[in-house]
Amino acid sequence: MVSLHVMNMNAPIGIFDSGLGGLTVFEEVRKLLPQENLVYVADSAFAPYGNKDDAIVVQRCESLAHYLIQTHTIKALVVACNTATAAAIQTLRDQLGIPVIGMEPAIKPAVAVTQSGVVGVLATENTLKSDKFSNLLDAHQHRARIITQPCFGLVEAIEQGDLDSKRIKQLLQNYVQPLLDEGVDTFVLGCTHYPLLEQLIRELVGAQAYIISTGAAVAKQVQHTLKQDNIDNQEAHQPTHDFYTSGDAKHVETLASKLSQQPMKMQPLPSLAELSSLSA
Ligand code: DGL
Repeated sequence: MVSLHVMNMNAPIGIFDSGLGGLTVFEEVRKLLPQENLVYVADSAFAPYGNKDDAIVVQRCESLAHYLIQTHTIKALVVACNTATAAAIQTLRDQLGIPVIGMEPAIKPAVAVTQSGVVGVLATENTLKSDKFSNLLDAHQHRARIITQPCFGLVEAIEQGDLDSKRIKQLLQNYVQPLLDEGVDTFVLGCTHYPLLEQLIRELVGAQAYIISTGAAVAKQVQHTLKQDNIDNQEAHQPTHDFYTSGDAKHVETLASKLSQQPMKMQPLPSLAELSSLSA
């Protein structure tokens, strides 16, 4: 039992996303839990998840989770993707014998801070039409008017490394302006890719508006879960941070290094067939 505990403590936390957006969550986890070993998977070959059938997204999530458990013996899993969380969190929790932490658009804090009483939620189409999101809305819409905006094309642009072209600025303007016109003063970034565009969003919404993302809150949730299960890593050591992708490793490595403004080494994931056999 003691040796199992020691093994669990040192095991890495697995974090995955459809692509590079989850790095915004990875970064918060790394900052809050600097002693934890982390392994990140960017499922870039399958991005975006936001317009795919739920069944396909669930299957991908299962494959990635089983890969992380079997190959990296992770002690906890962070689903660093709102879309994947909405589709697959329950299945993952039912199947995996480890804690699974997911994302949730930050509507609760948004309705608490809004001055105008109008909150805007930017997210993928799949997140916004999920049952999980409907339940979240039901729980909070008596406290503020909540307007949702699916943001087609943003994830694809970010995955191509586009953070500041005229095209993405125009796309964002098309999504944000109608919300401003409705009196929105609080913007919920309900997709882990969107914090990568925070500067552009800030330019559009002005200095006074609130922009709320969920990465830091999720990192706190991870910390709480590890402590509660007595599997937090308390060893003073140099942690390992490993990155894998289903996309072209060199290409994704270049983008990831640009987005996170530091050199990152991406390794290729096993093939889809190998991954599927893990979850079979
Ligand atoms: N980062 C994912 C999310 O939080 C993006 C989903 C997608 O790939 O469309 O929803």
